[in-house]
Amino acid sequence: MTAVAQQTNGLIDKFGRRVDYIRLSVTDRCDFRCVYCMTEEMQFVPRKQVLTLEELYTVARAFTELGVSRIRLTGGEPMVRSNVMHLVNRLGNLPGLNELLLTTNGSQLDKYSAPLKAAGVKRINISLDSLDAEKFRRISRVGKLERVLAGIDAAIATGFDRLRINSVIMRGYNEGEVLPLVEFALDRGLDIAFIEEMPLGEASDHDREDTTCSNDWVREQIESRYTLLDSAVKTAGPSRYVQVVGSKSRIGFISPVTHNFCADCNRVRVTVEGRLLLCLGNEHSMDLRAILRDDSKDFDDLKTAIVAAMDLKPERHYFYDKEHAQPVRLMNMTGG
Ligand code: GTP
Ligand code: 5AD
Ligand code: SF4
Repeated sequence: MTAVAQQTNGLIDKFGRRVDYIRLSVTDRCDFRCVYCMTEEMQFVPRKQVLTLEELYTVARAFTELGVSRIRLTGGEPMVRSNVMHLVNRLGNLPGLNELLLTTNGSQLDKYSAPLKAAGVKRINISLDSLDAEKFRRISRVGKLERVLAGIDAAIATGFDRLRINSVIMRGYNEGEVLPLVEFALDRGLDIAFIEEMPLGEASDHDREDTTCSNDWVREQIESRYTLLDSAVKTAGPSRYVQVVGSKSRIGFISPVTHNFCADCNRVRVTVEGRLLLCLGNEHSMDLRAILRDDSKDFDDLKTAIVAAMDLKPERHYFYDKEHAQPVRLMNMTGG
C-alpha cells in the first residue's frame, strides 16, 4: 500500500498494531533528578536543537490528521518548559484530538492545575514514589515532597476526570512505601499505578538488576491488607487495573519487565529534538526535525514520513535479556 493510501486508514505498523496515541515530550529538563530516570549531572539538549512550540504543534497536527486521537505531554517535566501553556491551550482545540493528557512530577500543579483543566487536559498522572520526605529526597535527589503534595491537593480541588499516582517501587529505596502509597490514594479517591523499573540507560546510583521489583511482589504486599478484584477497565495505556473492594480507587500495574504487553502497543513517542521513537525499548527512530526545518519540505512530507516510519516499529522490547542490546537512552530523553 502506498503511504498516501495508508493515510486514510490511520497509522498501522507491520504487526497490525494501530498507533493512535502519541507521547510528546516538550522538554528534556526537569526540576527533579530521579535516580531511575537521570544521572546527577545531566547535560541537557542545547536550545537550538529543541523543537519550538510552533514545531511541536505542527507535529501534533500531523499526527491527529493521521488518526491519532490521544496526546500525552511528557518531559522531563513538561511544566518547566517556558510558555508551555501556550502550546497546551492550542492543543486543547486541535480537531480530532479526543484526549489531551499529562504526565508530571506534580511540583508545579498548585499553580497550573486550573489553567490545565481550562485548556482541556482530561487526565493527569502524577509521579510519587514515597510519602517519607527523606526517601522522597533520596529518590528525586533534589525534589521537595511538600511541593508535590500541594500539587496533588490542587489537582484534586480542580477536579480532573481521574487522577492517577504513578509509583516506581525499587528495592533498597522505597519497597516499604507500597501500602502507605495505596492508603494515600484510597483516602483521596485517586487511582494509583505501580510501574516496574525499566533498564532505560544506565542508572548512576544503583544497578537496576538489584532494585527492580516485580509487580507480582507489589500486588502481594497490597493483598496483605486489601481485597483486589481483577477489572476489565482500561485506560489507553498498558496498565492492568484491579478494583479495591469497598473503594472507588483503582490500582494499576504496569509490568513491562515481567509481563510483556508489546503486542497491544498503540503508541509512539516524539522527543524534544523531534525524533520519532517507534518503541521505548529500542533505538528505531526517524528525524522529524530535519523535515520541519527543511525549506524544500512541506506539511504533507511530514505526514508521509510519519506513515513510512510505522514500518520501523519493532515487535517488542527485550528488557534485561542478555542476548539483546539494552536501550542507552535515559527516560528524560525518551519522554516518559
Ligand atoms: P494512560 O493509560 O493513558 O493513563 O497512560 P500511561 O500509563 O500510558 O501513561 P504514563 O505516562 O502515566 O505512563 C506511566 C509509565 O508507564 C511510563 O512512564 C512508562 O514507564 C510506562 N509505559 C507507558 N507506555 C509504555 C510503553 O509503551 N511501553 C513500556 N514498556 N512502558 C510504558
Ligand atoms: N523505569 C520505569 N519508569 C520510569 N519512569 C522514569 N524512568 C523510569 C524507568 N527507568 C517513570 C516515572 C514517571 C514516568 C514519567 O516515567 O516514574 O511515572
Ligand atoms: Fe510498545 Fe516498545 Fe513499549 Fe513494547 S516497549 S509497549 S513495543 S513502546
